[in-house]
Amino acid sequence: MSRKSAHSPSRKFAAYPRLNPLGIGKSVSAADLIDSTFLAYNGGRLREAARLLAEKMLPKSGFIGMSLTGALTPAGLGKSCMIPLMKAGFVDWIVSTGANLYHDLHFGLDMALHQGSPFLDDVTLHRDGVIRIYDVLFDYNVLLDTDAFVREVIQGPEFQRAMGTDEFHYLLGKYVHARGAKLGLKDSSVLATAYECGIPIFTSSPGDSSIGMNVAAMSMRGSGLMFDVNRDVNQTAGIVYEAKSTGHTSSVVILGGGSPKNFMLQTEPQIQEVMGIQEKGHDYFLQCTDARPDTGGLSGATPAEAVSWGKVDPDKLPDSVVCYTDSTLALPLLTAYVLDRVKPRKHKRLYNRRDTILGKVRDRYLSVGTVSKIKTSRKVAKRSSSIGLKS
Ligand SMILES: NC(=O)c1ccc[n+]([C@@H]2O[C@H](COP(=O)([O-])OP(=O)(O)OC[C@H]3O[C@@H](n4cnc5c(N)ncnc54)[C@H](O)[C@@H]3O)[C@@H](O)[C@H]2O)c1
Repeated sequence: MSRKSAHSPSRKFAAYPRLNPLGIGKSVSAADLIDSTFLAYNGGRLREAARLLAEKMLPKSGFIGMSLTGALTPAGLGKSCMIPLMKAGFVDWIVSTGANLYHDLHFGLDMALHQGSPFLDDVTLHRDGVIRIYDVLFDYNVLLDTDAFVREVIQGPEFQRAMGTDEFHYLLGKYVHARGAKLGLKDSSVLATAYECGIPIFTSSPGDSSIGMNVAAMSMRGSGLMFDVNRDVNQTAGIVYEAKSTGHTSSVVILGGGSPKNFMLQTEPQIQEVMGIQEKGHDYFLQCTDARPDTGGLSGATPAEAVSWGKVDPDKLPDSVVCYTDSTLALPLLTAYVLDRVKPRKHKRLYNRRDTILGKVRDRYLSVGTVSKIKTSRKVAKRSSSIGLKS
């Protein structure tokens, strides 16, 4: 590089737009605000996340999987963000904690949650029968009534068998949808909207929520409902295989971290490492979290670390975005951005095609997979394999 070019701002910073925002006007839209003033630090990452979603993940009918952790539905984000995104065709499949789905039921059944304060006396709240999630408050009866609804519904004949959590949530969503219609509600429940739009919702740990607790109690009264977690693992891998084998991209939008993050990402190692099907990893990765990477925990693990596991396509790593922010800030902004910038998409209705989707990945696995150690094109250390399996 010549001395002149080394000092020439145009050459040195050619890839980097000048940071020189205009003042914020009176009636700026959320999308314009993000584009024009979210220029650095986690604001900058949020702008990149919004653009990644709008310009790379959503176009060309790319498959979008969304994972939900943290107390999002109690904060109203199911109604304010998830439902508009789902209705616009911007979410194709979901992995959620049971908690988010349980608390979604309160909205679907028209029960009241209140904006409170984190600084209340919990002993007094307990005495008065008030439950607190940080600054969200509700009556203890909300829990009791929601529990009773779950127990009542799962007594029906269609629940008396083993099923994937996607099927369980679809059936539950059908009942929430019906109850909502009776109550004159519209667009109030994620479960009911998923039922309407054919969006499969999985839970990675079905026993770990009040829904799972009620299902467990009912098993002691003779209920036949069981969760088929093998089906969930293969079904989610099937969805990603469906995307890749039909020439679509597979994107993951991760809110929080936790077990749903891994459940969504592990679809790729399930396809490659376990089933032995050639694949490169998810195409696009977007995470909003407060979790740090240096503890070794999965919640804070970066997309680069995910590349080493085969979870994310190494060629697409530069497009990945991690935004260290609270989902209660990020999700409404991302929702407003894509609803403004992207036209609604046709629903893929992956739930309605679940048997075909599973059959396709099963056929491929049975034709290329093995029980003994899988042959891979990846460079791995030479060592003896299948010890104890050969016999
Ligand atoms: N009544 C219930 O059913 C109930 C209630 C609460 C939790 N649970 C269960 O407990 C388990 C833990 O759930 P969880 O989601 O609370 O896990 P968690 O609080 O451990 O959160 C998981 C990850 O998301 C991150 N996170 C949480 N909130 C965030 C936010 N607002 N913004 C950005 N990142 C955030 C956390 O840092 C963490 O990395 C789940 O299996 C859940 O089903 C059940």
